[in-house]
Amino acid sequence: MISIKSDREIELMKHAGHINYLTHLEVAKNIKAGISTKALNDIAHKFILDNGCNPSFLNYEGYPASICISVNDEVVHGIPSKRKLKDGDVVSVDIGVEYKGYHSDSANTYIVGHASKEIEDLVENTRKSLYEGLSVIKDGVKISDIGSKIENFAKMNNLGVVRELVGHGVGSSIHEDPDVPNYYTNDVTRLRAGMVIAVEPMLNLGSRHIYMEEDEWTIKTEDGLPSAHFEHTVLVTKDGFVILTGE
Ligand code: MF3
Ligand code: CO
Repeated sequence: MISIKSDREIELMKHAGHINYLTHLEVAKNIKAGISTKALNDIAHKFILDNGCNPSFLNYEGYPASICISVNDEVVHGIPSKRKLKDGDVVSVDIGVEYKGYHSDSANTYIVGHASKEIEDLVENTRKSLYEGLSVIKDGVKISDIGSKIENFAKMNNLGVVRELVGHGVGSSIHEDPDVPNYYTNDVTRLRAGMVIAVEPMLNLGSRHIYMEEDEWTIKTEDGLPSAHFEHTVLVTKDGFVILTGE
């Protein structure tokens, strides 16, 4: 069942989204060579609590940290650790924030210092693919049109589209109906004003294939090439959409 949010629910989700955005800024400020991913996790954790919210991911299905940080060939769900960032690393930061029972979900990818043009393009084109996908959103549009847009853009830029993980509805749970794949499907479900969804392309420099690490969380690319991830939580409106996790 896909829920339509009430005005009150939308207000709470706007706040959860705003704190999510501010948490990203706080983490981004601290991303540099030499800092550990655990230190970034702790900065985010404290910032979220100081703002009267909770980190949605902590203990979600047993997840052991407050945010996900996935480096280089790690696609998503990297667990923060003692690992120190170094020049050229591709760092995907995924944050969930809960306020009064309502969630927001957003991811950004950063490059530490300098990287090759190829890697800069991977990150920039993954960001663009998110906005391509978002651009079709309004009441009445098929959910699968989002994925078609993302998939076409990725293909044009020779990037692999991860298929095993998808975007999703967001609300009183971090993951709700519907699924929002980053590729074409024949699903004819349509968006309606008042739905809130997270769109989250994960694009690989190489092939789309992935595997799960022994920690049973970290997802990595099979060929060891880097991956990027961008995600926004958005409210569907009659004529378009509102990004809840943006500026
Ligand atoms: N942010 C992820 C998503 O976009 C969810 C992470 S759940 C966790 O769907 F358990 F790994 F934290
Ligand atoms: Co998500």
